Amino acid sequence: MERSPRFFGVQIPAMLLVCFVCLSASSLAQRRQNTPAPTGPWMNSSLSPDERADLVLKDMTVDEKVALLHGVGMPTDDAVTPENAPSNRGVGYAVGVPRLGIPGIDMSDAAYGVRSSGVNGRYSTALPANVAAAASWDPDAAYEYGALIGRELRAQGFNMTLGGGVNITRDPRNGRTFEYLGEDPILAGTLVSKLIQGTQSAHVIGDIKHYALNDQESGRNSVNINISKRAARETDLLAFEIGVAEGHPSAVMCSYNRVNADFACENKYLLTDVLKKDWHFPGFVLSDWGGTHSTEKASAAGLDNEEPGSFFYGDRYKAALTAGKISTAELDEHVHRILRSMFAAGVIDFPRQRSVVDPFAGMETARKIEEGGIVLLKNEKAALPLNPAKLRTIAVIGAHSDVGMISGGGSAQVDPIGGNAILPPGKGATGWQQEIWFPTSPLKAIQARAPRASVKYDPGTDPAAAAALAKSADVAVVFAYMWASEGMDLKSLSLPHNQDDLIAAVTAANPHTIVVLETGNPVTMPWVNSPAAIVEAWFAGSDGANALGNILFGTVNPSGKLPNTFPRSESDLPHPTLTMPPPASERFSGPASREQWAAGLPPFQVTYDEGLKVGYKWYDAEKKTPLFPFGFGLSYTTYRYAGLQVTSGSKVKVTFTLANTGARAGAEIAEIYASLPATTQEPPKRLVGFSKVKLDAGAKQTVTVEIDPKYLSVFDEAKNAWTLVPGDYTIMVGGSSQDLPLKATINLK
Ligand code: BGC
Repeated sequence: MERSPRFFGVQIPAMLLVCFVCLSASSLAQRRQNTPAPTGPWMNSSLSPDERADLVLKDMTVDEKVALLHGVGMPTDDAVTPENAPSNRGVGYAVGVPRLGIPGIDMSDAAYGVRSSGVNGRYSTALPANVAAAASWDPDAAYEYGALIGRELRAQGFNMTLGGGVNITRDPRNGRTFEYLGEDPILAGTLVSKLIQGTQSAHVIGDIKHYALNDQESGRNSVNINISKRAARETDLLAFEIGVAEGHPSAVMCSYNRVNADFACENKYLLTDVLKKDWHFPGFVLSDWGGTHSTEKASAAGLDNEEPGSFFYGDRYKAALTAGKISTAELDEHVHRILRSMFAAGVIDFPRQRSVVDPFAGMETARKIEEGGIVLLKNEKAALPLNPAKLRTIAVIGAHSDVGMISGGGSAQVDPIGGNAILPPGKGATGWQQEIWFPTSPLKAIQARAPRASVKYDPGTDPAAAAALAKSADVAVVFAYMWASEGMDLKSLSLPHNQDDLIAAVTAANPHTIVVLETGNPVTMPWVNSPAAIVEAWFAGSDGANALGNILFGTVNPSGKLPNTFPRSESDLPHPTLTMPPPASERFSGPASREQWAAGLPPFQVTYDEGLKVGYKWYDAEKKTPLFPFGFGLSYTTYRYAGLQVTSGSKVKVTFTLANTGARAGAEIAEIYASLPATTQEPPKRLVGFSKVKLDAGAKQTVTVEIDPKYLSVFDEAKNAWTLVPGDYTIMVGGSSQDLPLKATINLK
């Protein structure tokens, strides 16, 4: 579904917020009075979710079953109707089984925080973008990330998240790169499972998306992705496989695009053969918004729930049942999956109950995650951390760094308190695909940490004026940003709005310049040799400026590493030019009717002929040197790796010592890669494990990481199975994909 501009409402101050919450909580309670508390035999919690689901199913009418297969529109945008009245005005609602006391499924987007809170008069925390959490390489932080989202969803009365984006970065221009967890399936899969576990710990139905291969936004509703089964299973699908196996999400959202000819939401290979059979996924599949394209085909392929409406899974579904085109067993299978997921996630045993979000706890979690995810890309002559005692004048330049920090757009957008920080108060409603700045001011954060320095700001719109200010200062901190959103891709990886020229001018005027990037995607840096330091702060969340301040002034030692390769230029990418959909006029001869739209736009083709070579695997195989490699990130201290031992058994065990050889405490992400036997025809190496280790200055620790055998295997299409190919495996350990000082070879049979 192409998304129309949306109005999210003007934010209101926190004091009013509490009243709003009370009012809406009481009216919600009233509206719910018609739904009896669940009392049936299925409330026996000693039974399994499957047994409980079957007991409910036995008592349901056909109409009730069909009602569970679809949403009732988008309460955010729609007028109040009897069907959507009990919802929380989120982006989706399925009615449940009111007669039996089974609650509705109340869904909200929540990629980096709960969406649409502003319009509902509520507050939610914006965590740093998901890609920043990925840059922390920290499973505990990912759990906290998910847990905060779960708590805030529940406090707002929702019982299902639509977060959990885990499409791997095949093309760094993808406008949703900030919503995902990087280019490596093992890193992304490991982190998404922790995120889901965290969210579901709050009795909220967890979801991972967009299944699968929705790796570009351009033409996402019509593109057909051509890819071999092996390449799909070992790259994008592996992230989902790990997410399903370890995160146990209750739901999986299928994506808009086609994969090898069939739309993902009616793709039997993806939904049934792989997800439900090979991975034993017991939960339900819901379509992305408007991503359902048929009734019988989708149902047979394994789509359990159409969102947000009922075009295919309402009356048409019932008609197909009556005509015998869909069997009762097939209907029951879908309903069973939805009900068992509700029991498994706890949304029936722990009904929705609104409370008030704790914004202070949220800010602290957001700050800590950002501190762990900021990546120090360059630091010549220890330009950082800044020493306030030595600074009399600081120039802060560009990217609205006087008032705020940018966030990622689309359905992930979180509403900032007080509205868009760069607009006058009251004019700050967030809109679909609009640049939204959070009121977290780097200028203030810097001034607070250097109270005796004169800190001056220049907007950076005139490079000459900015350079003049920089020249007069002891240090210049220049901010540059690249906004991105769902529903679009970047035209290029160059910083927009003349910011390359700005940085060139400022660094020419003052060599002691720190560049701070606020981006969700990799960017190219024609000026890379000029600044003293470069910091990637991503989309930094509600308390981004304090996190950044703590890194710039050394209260926190940077420990993030890149989850995506930064290329030198687009010409080094597997697809130097992004394939765009043909102009709309070539797709339909006139405006698309609802039926034409639903039936699907004619496809255009994108072929992933780079196959297994995604991200760093491409640069390794093609011998291209990136600007900054995958897994790279500096610290204010130094580390030494030594003493590698690799043993085989049921799992390969990798042991080594890691020492902090500098003068500051820090946290080092130790990365473990493997080269597979040449006969496998794999790219030169793959990440197979990692561990983030905290070390005091001078401390040393023995680290052991066990490698999942699947991570050393290849997907054998003929056997439809992961296979460990006998031969020599080289294990490499170090602090970046391009800096692996330890190496050992082991023979596996
Ligand atoms: C997005 C999903 C989102 C849904 C509901 C779709 O356009 O692709 O990620 O969850 O809308 O807002």
